[in-house]
Amino acid sequence: MELDTRALALLPLVLASLATFLQPATANDGTPRPGGGFSLRLVPYGGWNSTMHVGGGGFLHLNEQAATTALRPHFHGPRGFTYSVATTVGTGHGRHTYDLVLDTASSLTWMQCVPIAHPFAQIPPPFNPDISPSFSRVSRKSSLCHGPSPRQTCEFRATRLDGTHASGVLGNETFAFANNGGAAAAAEVRGVVFGCVHTTTVFDSHGVLAGVLGLGRMRPSLIWTRLHQHGQDGRFSYCLFGPGRPSRHGLRFGADIPATGHMRSTKILYMQYTTSPDFSAYFVSVVGISVAEKALVRPPGRRILDLFRRHKSPDGRWNGGCLIDPGTGTTAIIQPVYHVLEHAVEEHVTRLGLPVVKRDGYRLCFSGATQAAFEHLPTVTLRFEEGAGLVIRPQQLFVFVQRDICLAVVPSKHMTIIGAMQQVDTRFVYDIAAAKIHFAPERCSDDTGGQN
Ligand SMILES: *[C@@H]1O[C@H](CO)[C@@H](O)[C@H](O)[C@H]1NC(C)=O
Ligand SMILES: *[C@@H]1O[C@H](CO)[C@@H](O)[C@H](O)[C@H]1NC(C)=O
Repeated sequence: MELDTRALALLPLVLASLATFLQPATANDGTPRPGGGFSLRLVPYGGWNSTMHVGGGGFLHLNEQAATTALRPHFHGPRGFTYSVATTVGTGHGRHTYDLVLDTASSLTWMQCVPIAHPFAQIPPPFNPDISPSFSRVSRKSSLCHGPSPRQTCEFRATRLDGTHASGVLGNETFAFANNGGAAAAAEVRGVVFGCVHTTTVFDSHGVLAGVLGLGRMRPSLIWTRLHQHGQDGRFSYCLFGPGRPSRHGLRFGADIPATGHMRSTKILYMQYTTSPDFSAYFVSVVGISVAEKALVRPPGRRILDLFRRHKSPDGRWNGGCLIDPGTGTTAIIQPVYHVLEHAVEEHVTRLGLPVVKRDGYRLCFSGATQAAFEHLPTVTLRFEEGAGLVIRPQQLFVFVQRDICLAVVPSKHMTIIGAMQQVDTRFVYDIAAAKIHFAPERCSDDTGGQN
């Protein structure tokens, strides 16, 4: 539908094309900690400051230049709120540290490896498995291979939610992570199965990124490997910060994860009975949605619960469901629900005296937003099955484009994704052994959730 394409033009898209360099991780002492916990710095785009800033009331403002729009219909949602993780791969001469996109919807980590058919730009140069003594190829008999292969290799093909395709050969390698981007490795994970990519389409590396760090719930993701292959804690946690407000411990593992006693939680769906990659992401059960604490009227003839449920389409493909993914720029909501939500937001905000204005690339904008109106803008709450609600504050719902405020949530034809922008300033703890996601508001730039 034409609606989707328009929605795609939102802010982060533009960012993605303007920002070229990531900030290199600065050195830190990186002392290993007992108990298998470690914390990694999430690296935002260096271009954040030039394309947007946080203004009065904590709202995101797009800078003039960034407010021009661009269409990129390939992508499922707006991009740009993308965070990466410094990951050291290999040993000996082959050992290098790469920035990989944080992605919890994929279970396979992948990066470019020489030789590459049509390389995308990255820093440092692509991984060369031939000079890393710890590298081995995965047997072509492994169930992880996508056959049949004309060569005697274990091939794979991966597709991300944003439409990126990658293919190549599966390898087995040692990965290392340094606390907060420091030099000394705080954690080493051996036997990580990853995709050595020889061909990609539409991956936006920003000239720097080497690939994707897959933290999905299934084999062979990094978190799966830690839990099932090393008997370590199957938990990770992140707290996403906004532009201009980076924190040092964006991504935490094991013992570095703060206590969850005060947090709300919801269960991760489909843990028991499926090994299909269609369920690699973290799906949650949404039973209700409200705007300004008022439950939305359900679309005619549909139940909210059903609209958020994953189902098989007549063509045999899985569709729908609601998943949480920091690798998707902004939240996309399944269309029938989105329309009801958009209507409720429009009603609420126009009642505050802010008239609707048309802006290219946005579905819903209002003019005349003043400081006084900020505190009356609505929240959106997603209510999970167990009764817990994820509250999205106005600062994560709206973005300033010049002097207008626009809704930063978009409609989707296929599924609902709780994306990065709406996760800012909420800590999430994923626990794959317990099949639970815990969450609680936190000022992520203050990094208060830590034990140090
Ligand atoms: C990868 O290597 C480790 C040993 O480091 C081994 O235990 C594991 O089975 C290997 N995985 C695959 C899929 O080959
Ligand atoms: C962005 O601005 C903030 C605050 O002004 C500063 O701390 C940060 O280092 C800047 N980041 C970049 C990438 O320039």
